[in-house]
Amino acid sequence: MRLSVIQGQIQTTPADAIIVNLFEGVTAPGGATGAVDAALRLGKAEAHGAISQLIHLGDLTGRLNEVGVVYTYNQLPAPRVFIAGLGKREAFTLDRIRQASGSAVRKARDLGCKRVATIVHGSGIGGLDPQRAAQATVEGALMGSYQFSEHKSQADDRAIEELLVVEYDGSKLDAVKAGAQAGEAIARAVNAARSLINRAPNVLYPDAFAQAAREMAAQHGLQCVVLTEAEIATAGMGGVLAVSQGSQHPPRFVILEYVPEGQEGEMPPLVFIGKGVTFDTGGISIKPSDGMQAMKADMSGAAAVFGAMQAIADLKARRRVIGLLPLVENMPSGNAYRPGDVLTMMSGLKVEVVSTDAEGRLILADALHYAKRYRPRGVVDLATLTGACVVALGEGIAAGVFSNNDDWCAAVLRAADEQGERMWRLPLYSEYGDKIKSDVADIKNSGGRTGGVGTSAYFLYHFVQGEGEYPWVHVDMAGMTFSPENKGYLVKGAMGYGVRTLVALAQAE
Ligand code: BES
Ligand code: MN
Ligand code: ZN
Repeated sequence: MRLSVIQGQIQTTPADAIIVNLFEGVTAPGGATGAVDAALRLGKAEAHGAISQLIHLGDLTGRLNEVGVVYTYNQLPAPRVFIAGLGKREAFTLDRIRQASGSAVRKARDLGCKRVATIVHGSGIGGLDPQRAAQATVEGALMGSYQFSEHKSQADDRAIEELLVVEYDGSKLDAVKAGAQAGEAIARAVNAARSLINRAPNVLYPDAFAQAAREMAAQHGLQCVVLTEAEIATAGMGGVLAVSQGSQHPPRFVILEYVPEGQEGEMPPLVFIGKGVTFDTGGISIKPSDGMQAMKADMSGAAAVFGAMQAIADLKARRRVIGLLPLVENMPSGNAYRPGDVLTMMSGLKVEVVSTDAEGRLILADALHYAKRYRPRGVVDLATLTGACVVALGEGIAAGVFSNNDDWCAAVLRAADEQGERMWRLPLYSEYGDKIKSDVADIKNSGGRTGGVGTSAYFLYHFVQGEGEYPWVHVDMAGMTFSPENKGYLVKGAMGYGVRTLVALAQAE
């Protein structure tokens, strides 16, 4: 989809569809929507245009994600108008712009529109900053019209070719252009993460993921180093090696680095770590077969870091950022690691394996330890770590967050809130540590059924704690992999959760 920003009036813009908006409860629309309504007054004597007639009929309410359609019967250059519902004015947010824009643009795509023009939602009557409003409008448009057809013989050929962002107020044009450009970079990064997650696990194995990272880094101007299995062994990453040893696919450990122009490599960086289990069968502690295919998404944390690094490079963010992706496939086989094994981790800590299905924490442990060499100013790990977190917070509702540092945690929660990516903090009580003490080794990799999300976080904390400890936030995003339906900017399938929060952190003051 090509994107352009133009100055003009939406009602006179030639396109297959034009998109305006409506707050819930408004009966006489103003701004751009009012201008379109006035242009659609059938006969001079009519008090109402086509849009306000629909409102009076009760067919158009302005509820969030409602998309009304009006046909223009040659009164305007565009044959149809979509009216995107913004919900109640009091509840208006940037994320609602993304949602409304996503719903409207997807509808345009579904109807086969090729050239679509939209106003910037929220910058006029909504009163939001034009740059941020334009960014959210474009993010929603590109995320909401995402399609994954890599594995279809016959790809759906409905695709929007051109999206025009139309701004009437010339004084806002530069801000709208800047916002649209940033929104495009971010949405493309989210969609790239989604495609990694949606891709079949026989196609996306650890080396394939690492190759994708190499290509992305070359295209976007990042440094990329990929450790092979031999190098992972030399580094002593006992967790990564053990989890992957049952698979035909060797592990990879990807290091992506972004250094802002004019800065040398020494500045303390942010480090983002993503769990990259390209498929989680559970290993010898095998999972039930029902629904196991969803475990192709067990690399959603790594996908979020991949996408974030891409957007950070495109946006030339002001902070130095490192992305670490431990990539493995967790399989049962004659070579697989087993319950009872004791692993020596990169940090030297010895871990008793009680479940081979608690594999994510084993690969993250080595990455968290590896991060210490950077003396980071802050670390965030994202992981589809526990079913317990999904039980606690729900599917598609929020991710669970743990931290050793209130200030860094507040920064992450603020960034997530701004981006409409819900996160909820949970406690890192030392009693969770008591539950993973081992009789035969230093610690064990599961604390049993109760408190499963807390014990998993405390396990990770063992590899952060002590010498070289850094401000750390752990995000358990197990409930935030797939969207069950098309809604707002979400499309059925991978959500691409986490990318936007990480990007916002890299851009923060
Ligand atoms: N990848 C799973 C967690 C998961 C569950 C992600 C549901 C997405 C949706 C993880 O590796 C796992 O299997 N966790 C176990 C841990 C247990 C064995 C201590 C779990 O949650 O059951
Ligand atoms: Mn598992
Ligand atoms: Zn897993």
